[in-house]
Amino acid sequence: MTYYRGSPVFTLGKSNLSNVVKKKRILVIVTGGIAVYKTLDLIRLLLKHQFSLDCILTESVKNFVSLMTFESLLGKKVFSNLFTLENSEKINHIQLSQKADLVIVCPATANFISKMASGIADDLASTVLLATKSKVFVAPAMNTNMLTNIAVKDNLKILKKRGVEILTTSFGKLACGAVGKGKLLDVDRIFEHVKNHFLSSNLLEGKNIVVTSGPSVESLDPVRYISNFSSGKQGYEIAQAISNAGARTTLITGPTNIDPPSNVKVIKVKTGEDFLNFSLKNLPADVFISVAAISDWKILKYSNEKIKKKKNITLKLVRNVDVLKTISLSDLRPKLLVGFSAESQNLKKNSLKKIKEKNCDWILANSVSQQKVFNNDSNKVLFIDNNQVFEWPRLKKSEIAKRLVRKISEFFKIERKN
Ligand SMILES: Cc1cc2nc3c(=O)[nH]c(=O)nc-3n(C[C@H](O)[C@H](O)[C@H](O)COP(=O)(O)O)c2cc1C
Repeated sequence: MTYYRGSPVFTLGKSNLSNVVKKKRILVIVTGGIAVYKTLDLIRLLLKHQFSLDCILTESVKNFVSLMTFESLLGKKVFSNLFTLENSEKINHIQLSQKADLVIVCPATANFISKMASGIADDLASTVLLATKSKVFVAPAMNTNMLTNIAVKDNLKILKKRGVEILTTSFGKLACGAVGKGKLLDVDRIFEHVKNHFLSSNLLEGKNIVVTSGPSVESLDPVRYISNFSSGKQGYEIAQAISNAGARTTLITGPTNIDPPSNVKVIKVKTGEDFLNFSLKNLPADVFISVAAISDWKILKYSNEKIKKKKNITLKLVRNVDVLKTISLSDLRPKLLVGFSAESQNLKKNSLKKIKEKNCDWILANSVSQQKVFNNDSNKVLFIDNNQVFEWPRLKKSEIAKRLVRKISEFFKIERKN
């Protein structure tokens, strides 16, 4: 067996990027916040990597940086006025919205975010956004109180639900002097998002993938149940990353408090039996990823009436269905079967045992001994591929999801070669 520290994969060289971005067009929409000047750096970086750019400014941007500055940098006309477009450039807002492979709103003001969420189209920038079918990134930047205002929070949630990618702000000293959340994400980091978007947007094209996530809920009687602390975050991130990479994605989920991913078929279930039935119903697939924390036990006999309060009671629990194993032994077993393990001790040993017992191809093993997994936004996992163990560093769950996407894409590339 080989044991690797760190990750041996996922380095994409410059040439790889330049092949991908060759004919990619990005529309940068700039709105009127104090971080406007940083967008000039982003534009510089995108031009350096040979993206083809168009740029729209809202009227208020001109109070911060002149239109001329943007035009000099771009070496061409930038757009601002909805009603003079057609005459001056022989281009209309519909053409502008359809030309782009990606639209980035940077910086995105609270005002503009709320216009997007409400579908308002009262200037060129908001009209183009309403007409575009391209992927949209929004990079908010504003004072902390504005960002944490319930109106802005709700609007960002609405946009996320519709498939807009929100580039989370950073924490730091703001233009108003306060220290807090709301700083525009570093331009280099925004560029990373752009790069990753183009590098991964077709990695899993043509694949059909089923993901399970969240906890199961096993009722004891009409008011009580057995469940666990699984938040569903990791499975949701995986479903989102897979869908972003072009796969037809089904997410079978237990009860959670998180927003469903976009462009994903979501099936809400409760019990282990439900997980199994809906998983089988959604096979055959190319990949099945079992992230759900399905209770190992359920009550032997469900009580139709509320169990009366007595001093002590003994509950007779029996083994619940084993979704992963059932699928791995069935005729519907996908080519690639991925499981998750949660262990509070002997993580590596128990996970290696599990991969054999369940006859799955990969296991992502998490240690749940210190309560650093459930409901957390980051995790540290071992990636176990047959007999090889890779120790991934602590990563955001969204990052783990992206790594998994690359692994899956490599698996199918390798398979195609064989
Ligand atoms: C000096 C100054 C700085 C501002 N900075 C921000 C900001 O960082 N973020 C924000 O959401 N609004 C900011 N605003 C408010 C916006 O400029 C205002 O809401 C404007 O209507 C936005 O227009 P737009 O969304 O069409 O670009 C600022 C206003 C001023 C006067």
